Amino acid sequence: MTLIHEIDYGTPRSKSESMVSLTIDGVEISVPEGTSVMRAAMDAGIQVPKLCATDMLDAYGSCRLCLVEIEGRNGTPASCTTPVTPGMKVATQTPKLAKLRRGVMELYISDHPLDCLTCAANGDCELQDMAGAVGLREVRYGNEVETHLGQEKDTSNPYFTFDPSKCIVCARCVRACEEVQGTFALSIADRGFASKVNAGAGEDFLSSDCVSCGACVQACPTATLIEKSVIEIGQPEHSVVTTCAYCGVGCSFKAEMRGTELVRMVPYKDGKANRGHSCVKGRFAWGYATHKERILKPMLRAKITDPWQEVTWDQAIAHVASEFKRLQGQYGRNAIGGITSSRCTNEETYLVQKLIRGGFGNNNVDTCARVCHSPTGYGLKTAFGTSAGTQDFDSVEKADVVVVIGANPTDGHPVFGSRLKKRLRQGAKLIVIDPRRIDLVRQPHVEASFHLPLRPGTNVAVLTSIAHVIVTEGLANETFVRERCDWDEFTDWADFVSDPRHSPEAMEAYTGVPAEHLRGAARLYATGGNGAIYYGLGVTEHSQGSTTVMAIANLAMVTGNLGREGVGVNPLRGQNNVQGACDMGSFPHEMSGYRHVSDDATREMFEGLWGVSLDNEPGLRIPNMLDAAVDGSFKGLYVQGEDIVQSDPNTTHVAAGLSAMECVVVQDLFLNETANYAHVFLPGSTFLEKDGTFTNAERRINRVRKVMPPRNGAGGPGLADWEITVAIANAMGFPMNYKHPAEIMDEIAAVTPSFKGVSYAKLEELGSVQWPCNDKAPEGTPVMHIGGFARGKGKFVITEYIPTDEKTGPRFPLLLTTGRILSQYNVGAQTRRTANTVWHQEDRLEIHPHDAEQRGVREGDWVRLQSRAGETTLRALITDRVAPGVVYTTFHHPMTQANVVTTDHSDWATNCPEYKVTAVQITPSNGPSDWQERYQAHADLSRRISGHASAAE
Ligand code: SF4
Ligand code: SF4
Ligand code: SF4
Ligand code: FES
Repeated sequence: MTLIHEIDYGTPRSKSESMVSLTIDGVEISVPEGTSVMRAAMDAGIQVPKLCATDMLDAYGSCRLCLVEIEGRNGTPASCTTPVTPGMKVATQTPKLAKLRRGVMELYISDHPLDCLTCAANGDCELQDMAGAVGLREVRYGNEVETHLGQEKDTSNPYFTFDPSKCIVCARCVRACEEVQGTFALSIADRGFASKVNAGAGEDFLSSDCVSCGACVQACPTATLIEKSVIEIGQPEHSVVTTCAYCGVGCSFKAEMRGTELVRMVPYKDGKANRGHSCVKGRFAWGYATHKERILKPMLRAKITDPWQEVTWDQAIAHVASEFKRLQGQYGRNAIGGITSSRCTNEETYLVQKLIRGGFGNNNVDTCARVCHSPTGYGLKTAFGTSAGTQDFDSVEKADVVVVIGANPTDGHPVFGSRLKKRLRQGAKLIVIDPRRIDLVRQPHVEASFHLPLRPGTNVAVLTSIAHVIVTEGLANETFVRERCDWDEFTDWADFVSDPRHSPEAMEAYTGVPAEHLRGAARLYATGGNGAIYYGLGVTEHSQGSTTVMAIANLAMVTGNLGREGVGVNPLRGQNNVQGACDMGSFPHEMSGYRHVSDDATREMFEGLWGVSLDNEPGLRIPNMLDAAVDGSFKGLYVQGEDIVQSDPNTTHVAAGLSAMECVVVQDLFLNETANYAHVFLPGSTFLEKDGTFTNAERRINRVRKVMPPRNGAGGPGLADWEITVAIANAMGFPMNYKHPAEIMDEIAAVTPSFKGVSYAKLEELGSVQWPCNDKAPEGTPVMHIGGFARGKGKFVITEYIPTDEKTGPRFPLLLTTGRILSQYNVGAQTRRTANTVWHQEDRLEIHPHDAEQRGVREGDWVRLQSRAGETTLRALITDRVAPGVVYTTFHHPMTQANVVTTDHSDWATNCPEYKVTAVQITPSNGPSDWQERYQAHADLSRRISGHASAAE
């Protein structure tokens, strides 16, 4: 294995379609118009020395190292800032240029510590390379000249250091922060010799606005900005391209290694989702993989109050199989089930549902997508015929008006957030529909044209009002609708939305959105050019989640914003593989590819392949499994990579359901909260320890590649999660025989029409593909529904606004909504075990100053958060980001247990919980709630491992 070096072409690729021919050092070459001379030279195989240029950033022209001579022109222009022209004749190597370049380099080196041999970047430093490339052999300036050496290092960021004594002030870092990340945390202060890089207003990196994305570190050509892990471990020696295991953006990274030790994760420029960018989680927060709290041996116990006993893999697997068989023998075939994980690979998810349907003989399989994007699947399938977003991420580069609804991309999907901000800085307009003033509403160089701060729970009312304005003001795209949609359904829908009761003025009383703003936003979306809608869990996690998704689809259809680049309906999927988990047949009513279990032909095909007969009745969803457990009919659960105690609503009910079961098997990296109720713990493997694929929010199937052996060997070789499922299946008498996940993908492709053309060989060849990938689209489908919808005619659905049953009143006068924060990830099992905790040590309750004052709550006070479901305590953060009457918190920390207060209300179509609307009251508090105390006591008791000195967490 070797270290992958991506070519740096110096300046970005021109997207022009017209070509220009020129000659460089006698080599004739044709390149797209707008290409720099530097990049054209690279295309011709000629490297021009450079320092301030890199192809992730626009040309800057400051270092003067890339000078060239051009026939017929005076002087020596910089090749990075000079565009090609037809017939141009360029010389990159002449004695004059060599002398000039050596002079430039001499100046740089004279102000640079000459510690190359002991520098952490030795061997990976462009300054060092360029000194060699220009043939610099001596530096004439001595110690008598003033230098920047000896300046103090900034080590405040947990992941990288800033050593100004090594800085050449090329501004690559500043430009990366602006152009790639869009945070504008850095600047060049002062002028001339005194110029230097400043974070914020001259503070340290940690105190500045820096969000630790790492773009500046990657851009820096010297060791000025460098990863602490490189300083500690040394330069990597080989690398493997893989996919981030955090969010649904699905960024590609080079995992750079020394032996089996991971040195750093470097975003991969050829990654089609991230195009070389990253966020703090994928770039830096991977230390959990080797955290000391990771459980590496299988464990069993008879009761959940017993200490865990470590056992061998064989003992654990045999116990699981015999317990599950016992429970089915005693209580019936339907007494057990399982939960697949959106954190695991497609192949692993496919195997878990196969085990349940084929080995357990029932359809009691569900997934955490239940609690996030199940309404997306239902709503988009109903409207368009496919349960997935319509575009690729590149599409945002062609959008003119972007609507962000119920999503917070800069925190939840940061790399997409950066790509969106770039488009907005180029002039696209933005409409934000969100109860909170999310960062996108106003950021450096980005400002929303409209922010509609709706009351939580009124999405459908707002979207139907927008439709009202579009239809009644004659802004509908009738040509598109006549051609592409069912006309009769459209006219029924148009009559419905045109009703005066749906006007923004009539709806204002429910939504709290000023009618004029809503009208303005509707006009902008309908008439502003390419309109693209991006949405998140603020849309789906409601009692009308599926209705809202269909209301969004209606808006896209009525304005003709589908079937081309720059438009579309784009769910921002939460977890790395939530799209894949749904695609693989994780829901109790659907086989892979969203085919209903009652479809005889589909079932017969699987029966023929798997050699078993399959149930034609949908199985139990997660909430139904828990209800059935409390009722005594559901007794055993296999949970792979999911922490339902922390992530699912109404924690007390979840805990009661699990406590009522006789065999709960948890397969995970850590003793998570659900493991507190488990009888068997099977240590899982991280994404670094296995092969497979993840499918991101753009339907992009990306390879996950093993970079180190699984650590969960318990004395023997470790097991990837798919191998654990295979072992359980075989022990239960349902044979599975795969030697590599590639074989599982071959089976998925054979049984799933939208995956028919997918194979590991194709992924090697193309890097990634977006499904559908089949005979019609052998290289995948970046944009869906071009020329026609998957279902034929697009379906307009009437979206009647039905207020949630979760009502505010005198006892619970405020509305709680929840979300996540950049540095932490969901239940925090991974990010809490990294240095990311420096940014977010606890969940806080955001409350408006007016509501806080009424309750005598001051900044940082402990407050009691009570709902009809339960209560918890946390500290207050007073902010006008939330409107009066609305409070907000995250759910990353188990001690907060924010889901103790969320209720059992759920989406009418899919049971997706209504996390985003809970009526609550806030009162000052002195300490933890009764539940928190009881829970902590149980957790302490439950986490004991026999023979270990202390609890594992
Ligand atoms: S890490 Fe990212 S946000 Fe921070 S200064 Fe560097 S580019 Fe800017
Ligand atoms: S820190 Fe690095 S990228 Fe930034 S100006 Fe200095 S040398 Fe250039
Ligand atoms: S944006 Fe998402 S996929 Fe990309 S690095 Fe961050 S967490 Fe990973
Ligand atoms: S690389 Fe062209 S001026 Fe620096």
